[in-house]
Amino acid sequence: MSKNEISLDPENWEKFRKLGHKAIDDMVDHLKDLPNQPAWQEMPEKIKNSFNSSIPLKGESEEDAYQEFVEKILPYPSGNSHPRFSGWVQGNGTPLGMLSDMLASGMNPHMAGFNQAPKLVEEQALKWMAEMMGMPDDTSGLFASGGTMANIMGLAVARHAKADFDVRTEGLQEIEEKLVIYCSSQTHSWAKRACEFLGFGNKWLRVVAVNKKFQMNLEELQERIEADKKAGLKPICVIATAGTVNTGAIDDLNAIADICKKHDLWFHIDGAFGALVKISKVHKHLVNGLERCDSLAFDLHKWMYLPFEIACILVRDAKMHKACFDFSASYLAKAERGAIAGGLPFAERGIELTRGFKALKVWMSLKAYGLEKFSKLIEQNIEQIRYLKDLIDASVKLERVADVPLNVLCFRYIDSFLGEQELNELNEEILLQLQEKGIALPSSTIIDGKFAIRVANVNHRAKFSDFELLAESVERLGDEILQAI
Ligand SMILES: Cc1ncc(COP(=O)(O)O)c(C=O)c1O
Repeated sequence: MSKNEISLDPENWEKFRKLGHKAIDDMVDHLKDLPNQPAWQEMPEKIKNSFNSSIPLKGESEEDAYQEFVEKILPYPSGNSHPRFSGWVQGNGTPLGMLSDMLASGMNPHMAGFNQAPKLVEEQALKWMAEMMGMPDDTSGLFASGGTMANIMGLAVARHAKADFDVRTEGLQEIEEKLVIYCSSQTHSWAKRACEFLGFGNKWLRVVAVNKKFQMNLEELQERIEADKKAGLKPICVIATAGTVNTGAIDDLNAIADICKKHDLWFHIDGAFGALVKISKVHKHLVNGLERCDSLAFDLHKWMYLPFEIACILVRDAKMHKACFDFSASYLAKAERGAIAGGLPFAERGIELTRGFKALKVWMSLKAYGLEKFSKLIEQNIEQIRYLKDLIDASVKLERVADVPLNVLCFRYIDSFLGEQELNELNEEILLQLQEKGIALPSSTIIDGKFAIRVANVNHRAKFSDFELLAESVERLGDEILQAI
């Protein structure tokens, strides 16, 4: 027996408890004070450089490591928790989500699906997800790290379901009848990467043009499906988007469902953020047809505001979902009783074996706030964007560059004396100054060759006044930059 056995538990549990209380106090202060903080700030060089040290061989102490976190890391977040963040499509996170993640890490269950309470929590939360999206009770699902992963898994099930051969055994190396997938020019970049990763090859992803509302052009979709069939290819799946990343456009889901039915194609929806409008009584009509999908991917770390990482894939045909990913291994054999009774259902619905207890934050948040609160927040975000739209439409110095179907708004500063190239440069400078001065954090995109300041509102902390400040600041910065030339 060794007297020098060691572990990573604290040497002094009471000291550790104090550290834990202090960490919670500091995080609560941090979150409470966010509105008074800059939306973003550059890190001092000295602190940046301190991240280049070599690996510590001897530890300091838990308290010292925590103190470094407080001094060097906590003051320099990437900005998405802030009330005036609206860049890309990134949620804020929530205080309760933070606590749930701590509890999940504290319990640290292995979420392949071992037989205990955490498994029931994930099963329950997945049922709620299907209910939320209007899908049948026996829908299968899995929580994933993000929209990209959730979408990839949906496309993997599509491949398994629609290839006329055993794709798991044969692979795609030698097939003659190429499998073809359809999306629109506004589909998020995950689709191209997924086609590469799943072995389709990105040249078999047909990128269909969009109409003036940035929705998939359905005539072109049909023509391309027909042409591919005539050419001896095998169309297998259409990817529709509910809430495109650039402008928030929603494809005509019912019409795409009909086309898929007609041609026996898998109907996958990327609803990364837009699918969540399904929970709003006021706006759910915008995603009519969503419930007709074969598979649906969406993020809870976007428009359900939960801390990263959490997304969900739902698959209508539970048997097909399992058939795509199931496996057997002697060291993971299912038992009739005990810790592995019922097998490892979550490992057999995706490609990860070891998974964390992400489901806890979903379960706790829905228990604590109820679906109605999330629905009201989504409605609030849409109202805020419509308010910003009115401010922009009323200004002679600002111009929208696309419709505003949902919660995304693209706009720019204008001046009739400037050409398109100069306007692009000016608006890029305005955006960078907004960020660097810590005023607000929108991002950008290019629409019809125009550089646009892009606001994607999935922010539960945002106030109407934050959007007034944004519009005023873009006008003021545009004026200042022009005057300085
Ligand atoms: C429409 C859409 N699909 C997919 C994704 C990718 O999701 P994630 O970043 O969670 O992987 C995004 C991200 O913004 C998105 O807007």
